[in-house]
Amino acid sequence: MSLTIKDIANKAGVSITTVSKILNNKADDISDPTKKRVMQIVKKENFTLNSVARSLKTKKTHIMGLIIPDITNPFFPEIARGAEDAASELGYSLIICNTDDSYEKERKYINILAQKMVDGVIFIPSLTGKFHSDVFTKRKLPLVVLDRNFDYSCIWGKVMVDNFCGAYEAVSYLISKGHKDILFLSAFKEHKNSQERYEGYKKALEDNNIEFNEQNVVYGKYKSQFGYESIKNFVKEKKRFTAVFCANDMIAVGAIQALKELSLKVPDDVGVVGYDDIQMARYTDPPLTTVSQPKYDMGRLAVEMLAELIKKPKKKGQLVQTLESKLIVRKSV
Ligand code: RIB
Repeated sequence: MSLTIKDIANKAGVSITTVSKILNNKADDISDPTKKRVMQIVKKENFTLNSVARSLKTKKTHIMGLIIPDITNPFFPEIARGAEDAASELGYSLIICNTDDSYEKERKYINILAQKMVDGVIFIPSLTGKFHSDVFTKRKLPLVVLDRNFDYSCIWGKVMVDNFCGAYEAVSYLISKGHKDILFLSAFKEHKNSQERYEGYKKALEDNNIEFNEQNVVYGKYKSQFGYESIKNFVKEKKRFTAVFCANDMIAVGAIQALKELSLKVPDDVGVVGYDDIQMARYTDPPLTTVSQPKYDMGRLAVEMLAELIKKPKKKGQLVQTLESKLIVRKSV
């Protein structure tokens, strides 16, 4: 049977507290001979402090959970990279959960992370538009929401990007290049980011005295297939357009492929702007003009904010950080 911390204490003739302090490197008040004697017994008995027992005592596991909605979209792994770097620098391990934008999988992972006694969760909600405030409240999990905005009292902090400005800048750029008939291939209508980008798109048209036409907007998924099919449909319906603003780069990749198959040249016949600036955006043909989101920093900041809140919970309200996006001009407009 494996030794307990009590056995070690008895063999060394000291208290359990003394052994615990020594094993947790909090033994400044203990003499060197005692530390040496205890460590000799620990080594001889090949004793390891049971991390679960330790976390039950300290109620800290030094583990964070990161819940992302679609691991096949390069946007999220770039966020995870920043999160993982910050977590390891701060002495945390990171459990990354992929929900495939499924409400049920989200709920399952929130409960699993709570059962694993993670110290906190960074959550990028799915596109369902629903939130698990009941579970987060019941589990009392320190929670930072990233990228997709929600307002619930169970949220301890948020790291967001200004979607309105990003969209406004992208569409203003298209207009500056002489485009007036601009399509918007948007993600789901009820998705907060879609609504903010939609408002930025509309405002840019309005500020340039271009009539807004709801027929120029379609809603779908953050997938290339949606971009591809949307362009094919617009052309089939003989829709007049000279530019396309896409809600993310994956949609833009599909749109460009469809335009090519329809013998429409990018940018000569149709200008295309994406959103996110994923690694692939600079290698498309032509390289994609897009709105760059600070993906790595989003992940880092979310972890740093969560670590801060775990250490020192805010008395009331939330910590909120809003980051800026940046238009990256390449060759697709
Ligand atoms: O590409 C995925 C999209 O969903 C990004 O624009 C990001 O903002 C996320 O909400």
